[in-house]
Amino acid sequence: MALEHTLPAPHDLLAARRETAVRAAVAEGLVSDDEPVAALLDADAVRESARALHGAFAEVAAPGQRILHAFAVKAASLVPVLRLLDAEGVGAEVASPGELALARAAGVASSRTVFDSPAKTHAELRQALALGIAVNADNPEELTRLDALMADAMTSSPIGIRVNPQLGAGAIDAMSTATATSKFGVALRDPGARDWVVRAYLDRPWLTTLHNHTGSQGIPLELMAAGVRELYALAEEINEAAGRRQITTLDIGGGLPVNFTSDEVTPSFTDYAQLLRREVPGLFSGAYGLVTEFGRALLAKAGTVLARVEYAKSAGGRPIAVTHAGVQVAVRTVFAPEAWPLRVTAYDAKGVPKTGAPVAQDVAGPACFAGDLVARDRALPRLAAGDHVALLDTGAYYFSTPFSYNSLARPGVYGFTADPATDTVRFARLRRPQSLTEIVAESGGAYGDALTGL
Ligand SMILES: Cc1ncc(COP(=O)(O)O)c(C=O)c1O
Repeated sequence: MALEHTLPAPHDLLAARRETAVRAAVAEGLVSDDEPVAALLDADAVRESARALHGAFAEVAAPGQRILHAFAVKAASLVPVLRLLDAEGVGAEVASPGELALARAAGVASSRTVFDSPAKTHAELRQALALGIAVNADNPEELTRLDALMADAMTSSPIGIRVNPQLGAGAIDAMSTATATSKFGVALRDPGARDWVVRAYLDRPWLTTLHNHTGSQGIPLELMAAGVRELYALAEEINEAAGRRQITTLDIGGGLPVNFTSDEVTPSFTDYAQLLRREVPGLFSGAYGLVTEFGRALLAKAGTVLARVEYAKSAGGRPIAVTHAGVQVAVRTVFAPEAWPLRVTAYDAKGVPKTGAPVAQDVAGPACFAGDLVARDRALPRLAAGDHVALLDTGAYYFSTPFSYNSLARPGVYGFTADPATDTVRFARLRRPQSLTEIVAESGGAYGDALTGL
C-alpha cells in the first residue's frame, strides 16, 4: 500500500491530539470543582496553520516578493500566542492601544506590526509614528491628523489609506466591512471619493500603502478576491497618475472564513492564494510588497473550551445540560446562534468521549439569562452531572475575548502538545484563571466608598 494511504489526514491528527489533550486535562485537574471551565490551545496546530499560510503565498509569489503576514491580534489576544506566531514569522495587526501593548509585550518588532483601528487618537498616532509601526488611515480626518504629525515627525512608518470598495455584504452583516455604508475606510464609490483618494496620494509622497479588508466570517472567497482586485486596480491608477511606483505595498486584510462544521480546513490558505493568483495576477508580479491580516483562519481550529456539566435536568420534555461554558467564553454563539453555530462534543467524567445514543438536548452555560445556550436541541449522548463538554474550533474570538457578564471569571488557558500514539501531553499555562480578588479589584473594589461618600 502506498505510504500516503497509511498516513492519517492532518485534520484527523488534529482531532486525535484534541481527544488526548481533553482526557489529560481532566486527569490533571485543569478542569475541576474550583475551575470548572478551561481553554486548551494546540501549539502544533498554531505552528501548522502559520506554515500553511506562509507556504500558500510563497507558492504564488514572485521570487523575492516582500510578504508580511500580520496576525489580527483581536482573534487571540494572548501574549504567548503572539510570541509563538512571531517565532513562526507572523507579525501583528493591532486595532487598539491594548493590542499594541500585547504585541510589544510579545516582542513583535515594530517593522512587523500594522495599526488599523478606525478611532486612533492623536496620542496613538504619535506613538505609532514614533515606533515606526505601519499605519492605515481610516478616513480623511485621520489623514489630516497625520499631515500635522508628519510635518515634524521623522518616521519609518509605512502609511496608507484604508478604502472600502463597497462590494456588498456576506452572510453575517456584522462581519461585512465592504457594504455601501460600512464604518470602515474611505467609501470608494461615493461621489468624488475615488478622485479624492488619488489626489490624497499625489499630494503626499509619504503615502506608500493601500489597504482593504472586505470582511470576515461569512464573506464568500470570490467577494474577498473582488475586494483585492479593486485594491490592485486603484493602486495601479494612483501609480500611473503619480508617474512612479509610489504605492509599494498592498495590505489585503484578513477574513478567510473557518469551517465550523467539521475538523477539515476548508477553505484553506492555498485555496485563497490560488484564487487570488487567478483573479488578480498582478498581485504576484513582484511589483508590490504584500501584507495580510488573517486572524480566525490561523487560530480557530487550534482551540477548545472544556467545561464540566454541573447539572442535568429537563424542562418541557427537553433535556438540558447546565455547564460552565456559556456567554463568558462564547459570546457570539450565545447572542447570534444562527450566525455562529459551534460543534459541541460530549465526554464522561474522565474526559473519554461519550458513546450513548444521541438525544436532542440543550447545552446551557452558567449565566443568568435564558438565552445562555451554546447548543439548542442538539443530538448528543445524554449528558449527566460530572460529564464534560467541549466547544470546538474556539481558538479565535472565543475564550481569548471573554465577556464578563455575571462577573464570571475569565477561564485559564493552557497550551499543549500531544502525541496520541504514546498518549502523552505537555501543558503550559498561557493565562491564569481570573481570581475572585481580581474580579473585585477590576470592579471598583478600591473605590467602595466613592458613591456613598459623594
Ligand atoms: C482590519 C482587519 N484586518 C483583519 C481582521 C481579521 O479578520 P479575520 O479574523 O476574519 O481573518 C479584521 C477583523 O475584524 C479586521 O478588521
